[in-house]
Amino acid sequence: MRILLLGKIGQLGWELCRTLAPLGQVTAFDYPQIDLAKPEGLAALVDEVNPAVIINATAYTAVDRAESEPQLAMTINAVAPGILAEAARRNRSALVHFSTDYVFDGQKGAPYLETDNPNPLNVYGQSKLAGEQAIAQAGDAWIILRTSWVYSLRRDSFVTKVLSWARTQARLQIVSDQVSNPTWARMLAEGSAQLLAMALTAGQNQPHPAEGDIFKSAAVVDWLYAHRGLYHLAGGGYASRLDWARAILRLDPYPEEQMVLELLPAQTNAFPTPAQRPLFSALNCEKFSVAFGFNLPAWQEALQLAMER
Ligand SMILES: NC(=O)c1ccc[n+]([C@@H]2O[C@H](COP(=O)([O-])OP(=O)(O)OC[C@H]3O[C@@H](n4cnc5c(N)ncnc54)[C@H](OP(=O)(O)O)[C@@H]3O)[C@@H](O)[C@H]2O)c1
Repeated sequence: MRILLLGKIGQLGWELCRTLAPLGQVTAFDYPQIDLAKPEGLAALVDEVNPAVIINATAYTAVDRAESEPQLAMTINAVAPGILAEAARRNRSALVHFSTDYVFDGQKGAPYLETDNPNPLNVYGQSKLAGEQAIAQAGDAWIILRTSWVYSLRRDSFVTKVLSWARTQARLQIVSDQVSNPTWARMLAEGSAQLLAMALTAGQNQPHPAEGDIFKSAAVVDWLYAHRGLYHLAGGGYASRLDWARAILRLDPYPEEQMVLELLPAQTNAFPTPAQRPLFSALNCEKFSVAFGFNLPAWQEALQLAMER
């Protein structure tokens, strides 16, 4: 199977490069080879690579900066994904894309379902929601995986920030009123690759005799088309940022480097930021498990694996 991966050096994209490798021929790009802020060239790229599956792991993810760059966030997170979906449809490819819990306003008080109404509180969430809508409108075989609180140890994330604060501050104040699913980028990449492995297996069981190009399996695209839609896929269970920070400090592989003595709860409104964030944006991932028969492990289990040395 031929796969076009966009965003190969992001938290998720880096891991996808590794988890997708056994599935076929992966052609991967990132900025500046491709620039989703100038999305006009994307259709030609899709034509040229002619993949069975396009995976879009790029995004404008600077939640606070997006408040002052709404146009740019909208181009990268909504216009470009729409163009990719249209190119995928025209090319008979499938598109796998990622979205966010920040499409919700956090008022529900229970984990969100795919059928719950989105109501983003910030520009980033609005742009990601517009991206979902553009894909659904233009696309054919598309899968959108909404995820939450993605972290990796390679790039700046909440986990690396907590580890670094713990080395420089005796007293940490972390918000206890923001709750969602911490998701290790590696696990999300594994889950995405498992999904494509299922499509590949199903495709092998339904040979298309007319097909000439083994890297462009029409059966894989058909299987993804049959399962097209929006799914939540994030770390199992949920936690407040304070719970998460506590677990990070406990699992720190070099605790002797910590100088933090106190970890205290704080309220979100004590730390004003340009972008408003939803308070309870945990995702319910049952639709995904029912459809595909597996799910991501509990966030605590994944964090332990991520932190082991
Ligand atoms: N991070 C989270 O907490 C979180 C939560 C929920 C959902 N998500 C979603 O999960 C997906 C993966 O997120 P992530 O955490 O892996 O994000 P990330 O680490 O910020 O990676 C995003 C990638 O997109 C690239 N990119 C940004 N602007 C671009 C442009 N104009 N042209 C081409 N590439 C560009 C970035 O390149 P540079 O490094 O050069 O900027 C980076 O490689 C995204 O769809 C995101 O919205 C993330």
